[in-house]
Amino acid sequence: MVTLDGKTCLITGAGNGLGFEYAKSMASLGGHVVVNDLGGAFDGTGADQSAAMQAVKALEAEGGSASANTADVADEEQARAMIDEAFDRTGHLDVLVCNAGILRDRMVFNMSIEDWDSVQRVHLRGHFLPLHYAAKRWRENAKTTGEKRPASVVLTSSRSGLYSSAGQINYAAAKAGIASMATVAARELAQYGVRVNAIAPMAKTRMTEGTFGEITSTRWGPANVAPMISYLASDESAGVSGQVFIVGGGRVEWMRTWTPQGVLEAEDGQPLTMNDVIAGRAQLFGDAPTTPADFPTATWD
Ligand code: NAI
Repeated sequence: MVTLDGKTCLITGAGNGLGFEYAKSMASLGGHVVVNDLGGAFDGTGADQSAAMQAVKALEAEGGSASANTADVADEEQARAMIDEAFDRTGHLDVLVCNAGILRDRMVFNMSIEDWDSVQRVHLRGHFLPLHYAAKRWRENAKTTGEKRPASVVLTSSRSGLYSSAGQINYAAAKAGIASMATVAARELAQYGVRVNAIAPMAKTRMTEGTFGEITSTRWGPANVAPMISYLASDESAGVSGQVFIVGGGRVEWMRTWTPQGVLEAEDGQPLTMNDVIAGRAQLFGDAPTTPADFPTATWD
């Protein structure tokens, strides 16, 4: 029987939407869930400590074990204290899910610098800081005990980052970066027994209400994403690390990063000249599309 019994699971941004469903799933599997949430609006404005508290109450009402944390994940001191608090429960953090996020969509020509900075701050810095401070603790523990105690990290990317969605230059850049962070951290932390994966969720939440409109089907509910996150959190996914998955609507897609589509090489180790590239255009591109207008886009179909 799959269980998270005895495990401490810290989920950022778990006061709403997807994070709250992950918290319910992990609590129901026996994990102690640390519910982090700053309680802001979907665009990152405001703060309300009751979001984390209410989530904890709801988990406890269903018999789960949970505690609240209201740190801003992108604040250095608050992120460090949040990680220390989670580790100090039992001396180990078993699961870290970086999920907190905000959205501020604009085209590249209309985006304010503040909208760019805010989105990078919450997503990239807000993923890096918890991961960084947790990684330090995992490394220290492994060095002190000489043991590789397993831990699992799930980072939150987006199809916007993987498919480069127009209108989201700030968000897509951050989410593509996060997918890359998962693989880098997986390489760096394997020596300490820590696995790191990333998911690109698809679900109707307050963040995507505009995209989903009136769709009421439970197929797109955030609860339909949670089982894959609990799988990645659990020991059942041992051996899976550095991977990226699109999850939602009753489906999981395993994604692979940038791969060469065509190659052009100068002969006999000579320098590649511009004329070589002009002459080799057909060899490099073949019949493949050479503008993003023809690339796949992140639709909800
Ligand atoms: P949501 O808006 O319902 O939940 C996000 C939570 O993060 C909120 O409770 C918010 O208070 C919290 N948060 C924001 N900034 C924070 C900060 N600095 N510190 C602590 N907490 C903070 O949104 P949703 O849809 O549940 O999104 C969760 C994650 O999934 C986000 O990273 C989002 O970008 C990502 N995502 C969601 C998709 C979807 O289909 N809903 C699609 C692709 C990615």
